Amino acid sequence: MNCDWIASHYWWIERLGMGRTLERRRRWFLPQLKNARRALVLGDGDGRFLRQLLQQNSVVQADYVDLSSRMLELARKKAGVDRVVYRRADARALEFAQGEYDLISTHFFFDCFDSQELEALIASVAARATPGARWVVSEFRTDTIAARMLVRALYLFFRITTDLRNQSLADHRPILSANGFRLTDAGYSRGGLVVSELWER
Ligand SMILES: C[S@@+](CC[C@H](N)C(=O)[O-])C[C@H]1O[C@@H](n2cnc3c(N)ncnc32)[C@H](O)[C@@H]1O
Repeated sequence: MNCDWIASHYWWIERLGMGRTLERRRRWFLPQLKNARRALVLGDGDGRFLRQLLQQNSVVQADYVDLSSRMLELARKKAGVDRVVYRRADARALEFAQGEYDLISTHFFFDCFDSQELEALIASVAARATPGARWVVSEFRTDTIAARMLVRALYLFFRITTDLRNQSLADHRPILSANGFRLTDAGYSRGGLVVSELWER
């Protein structure tokens, strides 16, 4: 996947297609994240969630990881360099110290991976999480025919604009559970099409 080309258009394409729904879902659990100390912010794109996290939490130190250099530039402009280390990297090849993060965020990021990739990614990230770590996830759900059609259209869009290889949504829930995380809260929008979830270990 290469998001460089759409990076600066991403926010308005999202606004046009989904209004403020995704923004609302990303922000949903922010009030509960005020005591996080070390955050791993994966695939955050243009840094909108990262900026809000830093605004709401005055102590958190974050590691931002994204594959797209253009997304990373935008995130750095939005969120600044205080308390953030920016890494342009493939999250699947992370090399961080173990047991470090008490917060992990993945907003509309799991959809980039098939189930095998997701299993490996979640296991590798979970190995870097502290015992009481929290993991916030925003994602699409495909419980209805209408949702499946919309998600299929989104995959087509990302295939054309970013060369995204994955073309179907893997279910991250059993994988997070298998890695010791428990779903403690969830909020839905658009009749269950989009969900934000709070997981705890
Ligand atoms: C669908 S966008 C979501 C961006 C943002 N999280 C949001 O909520 O809108 C997926 C993001 O993940 C990044 N990405 C995709 N595959 C990646 C990988 N293997 N490692 C790191 N970042 C990746 C892309 O560059 C892009 O910024």
